[in-house]
Amino acid sequence: MLPDFKVREEKHTMGDRILHNGLKSKVMSAEAAAALIPNGSVVGMSGFTGAGYPKAVPIALAKRAIDEKLKGKALKLDVLTGASTGPEQDSMMSFVESQRFRFPYQGDAVTREKINAGIMEYQDMHLSHAGSLVRYGYYGKGKNNIDFAVIEVTKINADGTLVPSSSCGANNVYFEMADKIILEVNSWQDERLEGMHDIISIPGEHGKRVPLPILKTDDRKGSKFWNIDISKVVAVVESTFPDRNAAFKPPEDIHKRIAGHIIDFLSNEVKAGRLSKHLNPLQSGVGNIANAVLVGLNEGPFENMTSYTEVIQDGMLDMLDSGKLTVASATAFSVSPEGQIRFNKQIDDYRKKIILRPQEISNHPEIIRRLGCIAMNGFVEADIYGHVNSTHIAGKGIENGIGGSGDFARNSAYTIFMSPATAKDGKISAIVPFASHIDHTEHEVNGIVTEFGFADLRGRSPKEKAKEVIEKCAAPEYRPILWDYVKRSMKNPSAGLHSPHMFSEAFAFHTRYLQTGDMRPKK
Ligand code: COA
Repeated sequence: MLPDFKVREEKHTMGDRILHNGLKSKVMSAEAAAALIPNGSVVGMSGFTGAGYPKAVPIALAKRAIDEKLKGKALKLDVLTGASTGPEQDSMMSFVESQRFRFPYQGDAVTREKINAGIMEYQDMHLSHAGSLVRYGYYGKGKNNIDFAVIEVTKINADGTLVPSSSCGANNVYFEMADKIILEVNSWQDERLEGMHDIISIPGEHGKRVPLPILKTDDRKGSKFWNIDISKVVAVVESTFPDRNAAFKPPEDIHKRIAGHIIDFLSNEVKAGRLSKHLNPLQSGVGNIANAVLVGLNEGPFENMTSYTEVIQDGMLDMLDSGKLTVASATAFSVSPEGQIRFNKQIDDYRKKIILRPQEISNHPEIIRRLGCIAMNGFVEADIYGHVNSTHIAGKGIENGIGGSGDFARNSAYTIFMSPATAKDGKISAIVPFASHIDHTEHEVNGIVTEFGFADLRGRSPKEKAKEVIEKCAAPEYRPILWDYVKRSMKNPSAGLHSPHMFSEAFAFHTRYLQTGDMRPKK
């Protein structure tokens, strides 16, 4: 039996969403389409931050996995997506253990559990790199292709072009590289999404790429539609499932304080003449803290801002509504149920201000560097020298993945990471002597922010960074322990005195936590 993952099905009429006669003849049930995918296939699915992922076919695959299990067989697929999907795909398919391998990002509790239990393989990858890696055949077989693409679309036009759904993700790559395509036409998605997308697919081969023509956040240089080889389509499935759409918590005091420090920092940059009052294009990560920063920016002093980011969440809709933000470019939505209602109500206005691009364009280093983005993302832990762990929780394993944080961190003009200073009632410090996993190095991290302050790491050596990070960001009760580590490391020339460490104690915080449930030494 599949558990109840609170899959919400809302009935909409399909209307005339499938206008191409040839593709109309390919309409079949999700079960029939799922049955076409051979065991062991590599499947590229749509989906990014719970938006635009296929729902009906993955549920049918999960049911098929149960049937196969009853016959003593195991259905195992390698599943590639844009980024995170939703319960109908990740939770269901992971629960029945039908995902052998997952790439390049996930954010799902069941999937996380299976990965950390060693049952599933997972490759966590920069999202702008995913397309190139697939095109180079690292995941495929035979002709270096992948076997199937299962992609949600909003509508099939009479000429066979496709109106994209609420995310673009890596769909262009999966359409191009798959031997066979299954389309899920989802009538829950508003047909008026048409015109919001700008589809450019870059040549796969290194050395053959040309400069990308995106010079401003609102440049549109591509197609409104997916243009695919329709002879590869083997099935069309009708679906009415809503996107994941999780609610945001209203900003808590701690989140507001983090947002306040970022706004103060940006205001000082404006005063110093390094930023205009419109700021540079904003990139904002996902989650409650990121949303709180957007709320803060909406109430703050900056005008006519733009955003070149990965995901559009409620805070960005607020900024578009207030006029503080004039344009938002991304690859997907990640809105709350209320945000979705507001979005559908005002979709004709939003269409003029929102552009959805494939993730290799939304996260492209060339464009991010050209625009000089301000990158603001969450972190799990940061160390005293400014290395940042965004993905791994000591004693538990992977949380989500690096997502687009690396694409933006390495290439933006400003790279800021933010988190509460402690987790689990103070038992865990987010500032540690040595990060237990490093996603972003001191070479790209400009600022670390907690509720206690903003550590400005620009123009500082590692030892100077340590002072800034400990004094500005660590929770007061952790500062003496961190200083003690630094001071004793300074007397230990074996690791060199550029970034002094004591290897025997570098992970003492983590070890203590695993042994006692608290990073603080017993008094
Ligand atoms: N040690 C142990 N647990 C920690 C921790 C630490 N140092 N820091 C956070 N956690 C736990 C929290 O307690 C929480 O656990 P819970 O779900 O059991 O309550 C969980 O990790 C999530 O932390 P939270 O404080 O709610 O932060 P968040 O929702 O803002 O997520 C990240 C923070 C880092 C996990 C998230 O930003 C992320 O996945 N980042 C990587 C991808 C990314 O940056 N994407 C955007 C790019 S465009």
